[in-house]
Amino acid sequence: ALEEDRGLERGTLKVSVVTTAKYFVPRLLGRFCKQHPGIDVSLEVDNRHGLLERLAQNLDDLYVMGSAPEDLQVVAVPFMENRLVVVAPVTHPLVGRASVPPAALNGEPFVMREPGSGTRLAAERFFASHKVHVTVRMTLGSTEAIKQAVAGELGLAVLSAHAIGPELACGDLAVLDVVGFPLVRWWYALHPAGKRPSPIARAFLAYLEAEGAASAPPVDRRPRRTG
Ligand code: PGA
Repeated sequence: ALEEDRGLERGTLKVSVVTTAKYFVPRLLGRFCKQHPGIDVSLEVDNRHGLLERLAQNLDDLYVMGSAPEDLQVVAVPFMENRLVVVAPVTHPLVGRASVPPAALNGEPFVMREPGSGTRLAAERFFASHKVHVTVRMTLGSTEAIKQAVAGELGLAVLSAHAIGPELACGDLAVLDVVGFPLVRWWYALHPAGKRPSPIARAFLAYLEAEGAASAPPVDRRPRRTG
């Protein structure tokens, strides 16, 4: 136990997170580091595809992404809900309409994330399962750029609610009430099944679970741990 304690006082924690997780993981890391001032943290931000490659190469202690890979042996801990919503410029005719049917999105221009993005994958699955054909007006690898493009009326976008807080609050963007949305995904923290995480990585994992539980919605629809 003494060794465990020492492991929590210094050492490094390498975390990589998917693009949207950069909107909340750094803040959580900040609070965690206050509790463990002796540790060094490195944080890598990439899309889902990039993270899966880092995972395959065993580059980090923990990975945060939205849904666990099915083809890799991992321990995946769901810790927080991730709601994907349809974002529109405030001038869009569907803004303020209740229960918009998915078919109303047919032919709408969309600003999409790049291939390899988990957000894009989830949006494409929704469109395919509802036989909706949107027009991809532009593909952008940056959520910040997508928000600007939507505000500039280039099209609609599917984004995590985690990424749009300030823009909604100040009226730069609106969320459409499309039936079937929000797409509810989960944030998972994961590590290779064969690799026991370091004491500091285990502590951060427990911290994420506690923070997630503290912010959990009233009805716990949490998926089971996998791995
Ligand atoms: P992304 O990740 O940055 O690859 O879109 C989000 C997710 O996996 O849900």
